[in-house]
Formats: sequence, structure tokens, C-alpha cells
Amino acid sequence: MISPEQIERMVAIGSDHAGYRLKEELKAELGAMGYQVRDVGTDSERNCDYPDFALAVAETIGRGEASKGVLVCGTGAGMAMVANKVPGVRAAACNEPYTAEYCRRHNDANVLTMGARMIKPEAARRILHIFMETDYEGARPDGARHQGRLEKIKEIERKYMKEQ
Ligand code: RB5
Repeated sequence: MISPEQIERMVAIGSDHAGYRLKEELKAELGAMGYQVRDVGTDSERNCDYPDFALAVAETIGRGEASKGVLVCGTGAGMAMVANKVPGVRAAACNEPYTAEYCRRHNDANVLTMGARMIKPEAARRILHIFMETDYEGARPDGARHQGRLEKIKEIERKYMKEQ
């Protein structure tokens, strides 16, 4: 049985071929930050399809086996598109620090996606730290509006899940 504390420290990570090298760097960085990392692949720079890895990370979050996910492709866009199809996932493409900070503070994003063709590894590490270290503000007395907006996202999810 995995404890809530263990799940809180568990991060799922994945990439396609374009993001492979950066994914390996970010995996090491997360380990150095004290996180347990579940790597769903890919395992080389051989051509592959980003939806396969985005789905694997998103489903890990959806099943509640990790609290956060990190996905790297060429731009971060394709990974976010796929991950956001999975109920319970709020993925944000962050290729600069501001989005990384505010998608945590206001949106309680649980999956960070980045574009290895758009940012240097050092910038990606900084964005990773901001994402992992910034708290959601929705539980604060002055943060109710954020929680209300999150509830609307959940309502949309429920609507389309019903229609399947
Ligand atoms: C692969 O060439 C590229 O399309 C992919 O990594 C990603 O950028 C898609 O969003």
C-alpha cells in the first residue's frame, strides 16, 4: 500500500524522441530534489509518437499513482493536448517561468509540459523548480475564485465523460 506521502513525492515523467535528452536531465534533477521518479519512456532518440508517452504519464496521474507529471516533446504543445484528454489531468505547456508559476498558483496544474526545441536545459530546470515548488492558492481564504474555476473545469469533464 502506497501512502499519500509517497504519492505526493512521486512524479511521472515521459518524452518523445525530441524531448528524450532533456527528459533524462530533468529526471536526474527531480531525483536530486528528493522525488521518486517513474519514467514511462521513451528510452532513446529513435522516432516515436508523443501521444503514447503523454497518455502513460496522464493515466498515472489519473489513477492517483503520482501527484505530478512532466512531459517533454519538441514544443510542449502536443504533450499538453494529449494529457488534457485524461480526466483529472490539468497539463500546462510552460516554456517560460511566469506560466509555470501561475499555472500552479491559479490552475493547480498537475502536469508540466516543455519544448526541448524551444528552451535550453538550464531554463527547463528553472521552470521545473518553479512548477514543483509553487503551491496552489485555491485553499487560501482569498483563493476561493480559483477553486470555483477549477470546479467548472471538473464539470466540463463530467459532462463529456457522461456522453461517451
Ligand atoms: C516531433 O517532431 C514533434 O512534432 C513533437 O515533439 C512535438 O513538438 C509535438 O507537439
